[in-house]
Amino acid sequence: MLKEQIRRLAEELAPSLVADRRRLHRLPELSFREENTSSYLKARLDELGIPWQARAGTGILAEVRGRPGGGTIALRADMDALPIVEAGQPSYRSLNEGVMHACGHDAHMASLLGTAEILRRLSGAFCGTVRLIFQPAEELLPGGAAWMIREGVLEDPRPEAVIGQHVMPALECGYIAICPGRLMASMDELSVTIRGRGGHAAQPASNIDPVVIAAHVIVALQQVVSRQADPTVPSVLSFGRVIADGAINVIPDVVTMKGTFRTMEEGWRREAHVRMRRMAEGIAESMGGQCMFDIACGYPVLINEQRLTAAVTVSAREYLGADRVVEARPWMASEDFAWYGRSADACFYLLGTGHAGVVNPPSLHSPNFDIDEGALPVGAGLMAYIALERLGCVS
Ligand code: NI
Repeated sequence: MLKEQIRRLAEELAPSLVADRRRLHRLPELSFREENTSSYLKARLDELGIPWQARAGTGILAEVRGRPGGGTIALRADMDALPIVEAGQPSYRSLNEGVMHACGHDAHMASLLGTAEILRRLSGAFCGTVRLIFQPAEELLPGGAAWMIREGVLEDPRPEAVIGQHVMPALECGYIAICPGRLMASMDELSVTIRGRGGHAAQPASNIDPVVIAAHVIVALQQVVSRQADPTVPSVLSFGRVIADGAINVIPDVVTMKGTFRTMEEGWRREAHVRMRRMAEGIAESMGGQCMFDIACGYPVLINEQRLTAAVTVSAREYLGADRVVEARPWMASEDFAWYGRSADACFYLLGTGHAGVVNPPSLHSPNFDIDEGALPVGAGLMAYIALERLGCVS
């Protein structure tokens, strides 16, 4: 049976998956600058005899072709790392100090290379094409996904499905989490500048204090989330950076703030932008100051297409065992995989990479983040199985 063949190949390839992952982990690169990463992937694809083309700067579009006829399925891995100093001391610690694969994109790439090799070895056993999308810059707006799509990775022909996965340290290795519909939030970056008139802190009546205005704005904007949003639609507003560069006895002219707004519904997202801006500007004006409210729109809501996700869930149960496929809870992080779902049927699931028995493992984006590498053959084999099931070739 093809399922058993895939499982066996995935296990056989496990050492090379670990080697790929460690090699990539040692050489992390920041978003849009994944040159060495890209070179490594291209060399590996050449070794595997899989044709590829460069797309979107450092991105790669490769194809594993089976027998003639059949459809096209796309599989995606992201490539970039984060500006984090790796705290752990594994033998494969980052050699690029200050940059770290703390979001597991090294595992996504290694897993997809494994999937590619499995599919190439089975290319006589299926009809159709599996497209491999190695995408740069998931971590930094405007992201690499939209760029890859603009460069045609979902055209000629449009794939029937785009599948992606993301490592999840809180889920034990061997499991995946998946759900239809909304999985991840939209994300927008807010930059707020509040202008008053600075002066001596002992003479507030002579000044317009932007610090007090900013305090009101921060508190009031939370009401957009708590009082104006539909309580059944998750929304988050957080300001992580507030700069009032005065002194003990100096009221500054200006306060700047940066924050993030996330939600799970596009209509509400647009409306919330209008309401937040209006509220902040109104408060500042009523207190004699001015507010500039800039919104940089990030990734859209990630929605798993219902029918595809139901089918992928069935495939995952067959491949991993029914008890190893759990329901994902909506997650307020954001992912530019969401853009693929705007152009094609798409499904994104979470791959368990937690070590068994470890409670509260370091989270994604933590300097101590690491994975149970046993997840690599799981991810590689599962993606191969899902792709072949979607192509209708698994007997
Ligand atoms: Ni990530």
